[in-house]
Amino acid sequence: MIAVITGATKGIGKAIAERFAAAGFDLIITARTHSDLILLKKKLENDYLIDVNIRRADFSRKSDVLLFAEYVKKHTSSIDVLVNNVGQYYTGKLLETSADQLAEALQINLLAAHYLTSVLAPGMKARKKGHIFNIASILAKQYREDAASYTITKHALLAWNKLLFEEMRQHQVKVTAVIPGATYSDSWKGMNIDFSKLIQPEDIAESIYQCFNLSSHAVMVELMIETLNKNFE
Ligand SMILES: NC(=O)c1ccc[n+]([C@@H]2O[C@H](COP(=O)([O-])OP(=O)(O)OC[C@H]3O[C@@H](n4cnc5c(N)ncnc54)[C@H](OP(=O)(O)O)[C@@H]3O)[C@@H](O)[C@H]2O)c1
Repeated sequence: MIAVITGATKGIGKAIAERFAAAGFDLIITARTHSDLILLKKKLENDYLIDVNIRRADFSRKSDVLLFAEYVKKHTSSIDVLVNNVGQYYTGKLLETSADQLAEALQINLLAAHYLTSVLAPGMKARKKGHIFNIASILAKQYREDAASYTITKHALLAWNKLLFEEMRQHQVKVTAVIPGATYSDSWKGMNIDFSKLIQPEDIAESIYQCFNLSSHAVMVELMIETLNKNFE
């Protein structure tokens, strides 16, 4: 079994990589920092006796996403799990947001998933198997004025996910939007808060793994996880 995970070296992506590795999946992972990819590859191959293929890519660049997609296609013709996890948080109200920043946010948080999935989904369709997870955010369901471009891109990703679900269901490929609330990761480092009150990345990873294991005709279309503590929403 093979899982492809983007943004796999930190936070939620790393926890997902660990979870599927622990279940015996071989992995193809990407992020921008090559040294982190090498460290994680060594650790997971050592801990779980699996193969981990790594490829550096910056998902703010279309060309990098397409090169990563080609790398995946060269390594395998049979993907069981694709996790579109890369995403970046942006602050700022709508009219403080430049068009360039909105375009960058759309590239990383929406278009990168579209480019990668457009290349890999046809193979999953043809084999009539596979599960695509798209990591959205609770802000795909809410409107945070001081994170306008992020909110817009996550709403768009959720719509994209639903359309992908409808298109893929007839080919027996499952599609799930993961909708986490505040989850402990590097993006929270340096803040003066009690991290134990956030969702842990392992919670997201375990939930995704359980979704993947539903019976063959059941699919979790949206997986929403919130914190009990309302202050973090
Ligand atoms: N943490 C939360 O509270 C939270 C809540 C809801 C949703 N989410 C969503 O969950 C996903 C993961 O978030 P996270 O908090 O776990 O992030 P994180 O801890 O900052 O990790 C991001 C991962 O993606 C890679 N990455 C970042 N920018 C990239 C780029 N331009 N190109 C390629 N790789 C890139 C990072 O490695 P490099 O830096 O080496 O590239 C790292 O592996 C995102 O889509 C985010 O919007 C997070």
